[in-house]
Amino acid sequence: MANRITSLFGIKYPVISGGMVWCSGWKLASAVSNAGGLGLIGAGSMYPDVLREHIQKCKAATDKPFGVNVPLMYPDIETIMDIIIAEGVKIVFTSAGNPKLWTKKLQDNGITVAHVVSSSKFALKCQEAGVDVVVAEGFEAGGHNGREETSTMVLIPQVRQSIHIPLIAAGGIGTGNAMLAAFALGAEGIQMGTRFALTQESSASQEFKELCIGLKEGDTILSLKKLSPTRLIKNEFYNNVQEAEDRGASVEEMRELLGRGRSKKGIFEGNLVEGELEIGQVSSLIDSIPTAEEVVNSVITEYNIRLEEMTSNNMKF
Ligand SMILES: Cc1cc2nc3c(=O)[nH]c(=O)nc-3n(C[C@H](O)[C@H](O)[C@H](O)COP(=O)(O)O)c2cc1C
Repeated sequence: MANRITSLFGIKYPVISGGMVWCSGWKLASAVSNAGGLGLIGAGSMYPDVLREHIQKCKAATDKPFGVNVPLMYPDIETIMDIIIAEGVKIVFTSAGNPKLWTKKLQDNGITVAHVVSSSKFALKCQEAGVDVVVAEGFEAGGHNGREETSTMVLIPQVRQSIHIPLIAAGGIGTGNAMLAAFALGAEGIQMGTRFALTQESSASQEFKELCIGLKEGDTILSLKKLSPTRLIKNEFYNNVQEAEDRGASVEEMRELLGRGRSKKGIFEGNLVEGELEIGQVSSLIDSIPTAEEVVNSVITEYNIRLEEMTSNNMKF
């Protein structure tokens, strides 16, 4: 099948691996792209020189399209964008910021721009800003999240009604069945974070990956709501955050409690007690650490089988 997402990005399957701090370096991005999806390098945890190195290694590891995810609150944003343009990257997924700021400059340099949102209001703003593709992410997702806590099931159809540009669904999608559900709601592609964070090519620590594949329903929760809502595993760090929020700690106090490098400590260094452990709800459905290629293949196979079953069994009432 070809659709607007596969055509726009020049990929075989409309399956994207989301940019993820401490997980999605060149190894994961190139593996997903080589498997027929679209791999993204997550610039959010990289100094500019590190990002340049990852882009160059990714170019050496795949001749397929790949992209870079840039959270727009990044301190070195000008330098990051200069590197992306100079290295000839063709696809950028921006997040956590105003889509008006960078879209035109990137497009003027031949780059296709997607922007991540968590509401139909911001999806419309993306379309008005001239963004090429919207990623709508429900609050099941790992990582930073929308304040309104809209779930993917509710968000996708509303965004579909609000915009006419191509739409990628994210949040809680880890299987081909979920991909099919997202397509039924109007999405034309899926972005998965959690599923790809728990693959062999992800640069997350083995300790983090093993903890995540043992998680059960209810083991993650939206936290840090005073700063920037983030879905976390309930560990000691989360308990401290909760205790502080319950007694009405100020934003400054919360910022101090979070400190610097918490997500690196948890995800990359494997400190499961003191680290900030970002992962999505769908981790409770995941119990293995396959290669990225196995993930892409199983999602597409399951999507096709389920689609066939649903049409051949005639599910009409
Ligand atoms: C560990 C982790 C780190 C993430 N870091 C980022 C990031 O740096 N930038 C971003 O736009 N999204 C980030 N995300 C969100 C993903 O790109 C993706 O949209 C999300 O994980 C999709 O939902 P899912 O986790 O249910 O698959 C992160 C997600 C996880 C699990």
